[in-house]
Amino acid sequence: MNATEDPNPSFEIDADVRLARTPPASLYTDRGTHARIRERVLASGWSLLLEPDPHSALDVVPCSVAGEPTVWVRRGAEERLLSNVCTHRAALLVDAPCNVDVLRCPYHGRRFRLDGSVLTAPGFDGALGPEDALPSLALGAAGILRFGAVAPRVPFAEWWAPVDEALRDSGLELAALVRDSTGDIDYPIEAPWLLYLENYLEAFHIPFVHPELSKTLALEDYAHALLPHGTLQVGVAREGQPAFEPTTGRYAGQRVGAWWFWLWPATLVNIYPWGVSMNRIDDAGFGRSVVRYRAWIWDASLRNVGAGGALDVVEAQDQSVALRAWAGLQSALYRRGRYSPTQESGLHHFHRMLAVALGSSRPLGVELR
Ligand code: FES
Ligand SMILES: [Fe+2]
Repeated sequence: MNATEDPNPSFEIDADVRLARTPPASLYTDRGTHARIRERVLASGWSLLLEPDPHSALDVVPCSVAGEPTVWVRRGAEERLLSNVCTHRAALLVDAPCNVDVLRCPYHGRRFRLDGSVLTAPGFDGALGPEDALPSLALGAAGILRFGAVAPRVPFAEWWAPVDEALRDSGLELAALVRDSTGDIDYPIEAPWLLYLENYLEAFHIPFVHPELSKTLALEDYAHALLPHGTLQVGVAREGQPAFEPTTGRYAGQRVGAWWFWLWPATLVNIYPWGVSMNRIDDAGFGRSVVRYRAWIWDASLRNVGAGGALDVVEAQDQSVALRAWAGLQSALYRRGRYSPTQESGLHHFHRMLAVALGSSRPLGVELR
């Protein structure tokens, strides 16, 4: 049977990476599975809010979380993330960043306070209830970064904790970062977001796909760690390349050229000596995705050197392999692959988490909580 004919693929990922097989092709090629992934995976996690900037004077900023139209609002020190969809007949409320005290629906004039409650609703005298308020979403903050989630499976602080730890060990401060919008790039990719992420999760491909990047990293010292809600890959810098020198923690005494975090489900946090580059991988419909780059800077003079330099070249190389795998997944002859036990444990970890989230597998053992 062609893998695309499987209406309800389920898969287990063996806990032993040496025995495990990768997910079936239908994980990527089945439209029903795509819908389930949106619902059970993307809506379950935190993602970066691209637009709100707490340093800006604008208090009402439309944004999105896992495909949901949302609006970040601030009143004094209080911030919220609300649905940007009118509770009457679903018109979008706010189109552009602004400073207003009330959100007014352009369709039939319903007005909402910045806590989401209804202020006035023409034509609805005595016919409104609490369900007419705008739903609130979960909002998380780290320094000047803001994150949102529809139905987060873990509290924000727990999800973000490994990043905080790496920053602390390296003596770095999120508060010292300055937003650099010259690095804002959105890359549409004609392949599922899963394939883009999977490529990020292993360094196995680096010598084959990224000859320029290979020169800046001591690949023999490349380290990685499995986290309860993600993975960390550590690029050890070659002599003469810019590096962090953590004084505490697991990597104390090493010269770290890059911390590369993946956080469930689709957030990449790349920490370089010059600053932080974050990527949000958005699902853009079946077989399509958009990778959105945003950057914050500590030291602009280091911007184009070391493991964090030449990012556009590396990006093009990564996208080309995602497209190549997407083309190959259409083949009726491809079923399931295997993991390199020494090179693909991060990918294996992600697939095990994915199988649990999709209800294909029992929860992971306590060692991964
Ligand atoms: S859709 Fe908003 S008031 Fe009707
Ligand atoms: Fe890559």
